[in-house]
Amino acid sequence: MERPASDANRLGAASKTGAAAEHPRSSLAPDSESRWPIPAALPKLAGDRIHVWCAGPDELVSDQPCFAETLSAGERNRAERFQFDRDRDRFIARHGLLRRILGHYLSLDPAGISFIYESRGKPALPVAVGGQTLHFSLSHSDGLVLVAVSGRCALGVDVERVRPIPESDQIVAKWFSARENAMLSALSAEQKLEAFFNGWTRKEAYLKATGEGIADALPEIEVSLLPGGPARLERIAGDERAAALWSLHSLAPAAGYIGALAVRAGDLKLNCWRWPKKFQNAGFMR
Ligand SMILES: CC(C)(COP(=O)(O)OP(=O)(O)OC[C@H]1O[C@@H](n2cnc3c(N)ncnc32)[C@H](O)[C@@H]1OP(=O)(O)O)[C@@H](O)C(=O)NCCC(=O)NCCS
Repeated sequence: MERPASDANRLGAASKTGAAAEHPRSSLAPDSESRWPIPAALPKLAGDRIHVWCAGPDELVSDQPCFAETLSAGERNRAERFQFDRDRDRFIARHGLLRRILGHYLSLDPAGISFIYESRGKPALPVAVGGQTLHFSLSHSDGLVLVAVSGRCALGVDVERVRPIPESDQIVAKWFSARENAMLSALSAEQKLEAFFNGWTRKEAYLKATGEGIADALPEIEVSLLPGGPARLERIAGDERAAALWSLHSLAPAAGYIGALAVRAGDLKLNCWRWPKKFQNAGFMR
């Protein structure tokens, strides 16, 4: 299935790929550094836990050469296809970071990790002996990267830098449900922007957890939107019971960014960590 029409795709285009000139790195707010705590040592992942790691441009770009040496030939090919150096460097850094984080949990050399890809591009780890696998999801926006990991169930994470979206009215009309449209239209302009990103990241986190990605089903994934309210998956194609099998968490990894995590379980506990440079080589001397 194709991704839906270009208005929805444009949401990510300005900050994710191919638009370096519009958002030079210096445009990042100085407080875009994550406020999540840095753990004293790389933590173990207990069965009832989800870990979400956040890394900003400073942690990533300066370590980019170390990250680069762990990438596969396929990842290097993808990196070389970026038009702008900054986008290529960020791609290398986030894929190196992902390998570094997964390598820690799997006790593997980051360079030795192989990925498989589902039909719509979702990367996954092969299922190990005994049916065990590590689930993960990656998202990035304007230099900030989130990596979510669980040993128990599929999950999806999404992050967006909050910024005016000129086409937001068209996006809402087309990709949000009638109920969501009514809720948004009752809000002030400032609340509407936050509610829009709450809605977008929550829907996308769910669709990344299922592996579907941005799809025609977007309006059928109904989520809570209101600023300050709890994150909830309300209905999937009108079905509240199907939605109740999922939990949504809102994430505030850094000032000016909104994120969401979707997980098909209700009883997992969440730890949010900031990735520091000191972990780059901890435990693995390559
Ligand atoms: C997955 C998707 C929602 C990413 O959206 P985004 O907001 O631009 O980017 P994010 O940073 O949040 O996520 C990107 C990461 O999600 C992961 N990803 C890719 N496809 C995925 C999918 N179908 N499901 C879950 N995760 C996916 C990858 O790790 C990717 O990282 P990479 O681009 O550095 O390899 C979007 O690419 C999508 O809808 N894909 C579905 C398949 C599709 O439509 N393909 C057509 C394009 S060829």
